Amino acid sequence: MESILELKNVCFTYPRSSKGLYNVSVCIPEKQRIAVLGLNGAGKSTLFLTLCGVLKPKSGEYYIDGKQFKFTKKERLLLGKQIGYVFQDPEVQLFAVTVYDDIAFGLQNMGVTESEVKQRVEKYMQFLNITHLKDNAPHELSYGQKKLVAIAGVLVMEPKVVILDEPFAWLDVVQEENMKSMLEKLSPQGMTIVMSTHNLDFAKEWADYGIVLNEGECVEEGEMKQLNIEELIHANH
Ligand SMILES: Nc1ncnc2c1ncn2[C@@H]1O[C@H](COP(=O)(O)OP(=O)(O)O)[C@@H](O)[C@H]1O
Ligand SMILES: [Mg+2]
Repeated sequence: MESILELKNVCFTYPRSSKGLYNVSVCIPEKQRIAVLGLNGAGKSTLFLTLCGVLKPKSGEYYIDGKQFKFTKKERLLLGKQIGYVFQDPEVQLFAVTVYDDIAFGLQNMGVTESEVKQRVEKYMQFLNITHLKDNAPHELSYGQKKLVAIAGVLVMEPKVVILDEPFAWLDVVQEENMKSMLEKLSPQGMTIVMSTHNLDFAKEWADYGIVLNEGECVEEGEMKQLNIEELIHANH
């Protein structure tokens, strides 16, 4: 399996805190579905923010397509085209007046023609079953709908890697089922999909590859089928 993203011995600590990532080495295999598992505070979001170039490690290396990423301003700006990040909380991601404008925003900033923007936004609204919401204001939507709009805004840019931070968090049962079927449809044809979740049953059936974090360390990594995540399951119940 080719790795599209790779961290080697990465250490990061938050200012005025001892928490973060400790000597994390992980591979994100290309065009696979990857589940990142771990209890609250394990370091999942910190790992994602590092992969997105937002947090710069204190030490260690980061490779994208085999090329070392140095966290310069220029490299960070370019990274946005390759890696799309969907925050756990859609409230921090949505800001435009209408759903359509929100989804279109990133693409418009990439200098794509308006007709291409329209075509791509419509394609992903259809894919996520949210076309009927296009003229609504984001604040009029349910929490689950907001999550789908935030996901659309990332998918529409067709990044090589899509990172979803806890897509099931705070969803009700119906919204969760809807999110599951979206994730099932989101086949990694041409795309690498990384998701963190507490839903181990879904992760087991959905993911090809798994990464387990605990207190800022990577404690297991490999083919999902081969992972021993029973201990983690017990810890969750
Ligand atoms: N901005 C921050 N400042 C200080 N500590 C933080 C900050 N964000 C997260 N942490 C701490 O870092 C650890 C990892 O957090 P996080 O990556 O958010 O975990 P997860 O996403 O797995 O729940 C936790 O102990 C958390 O309290
Ligand atoms: Mg988190």
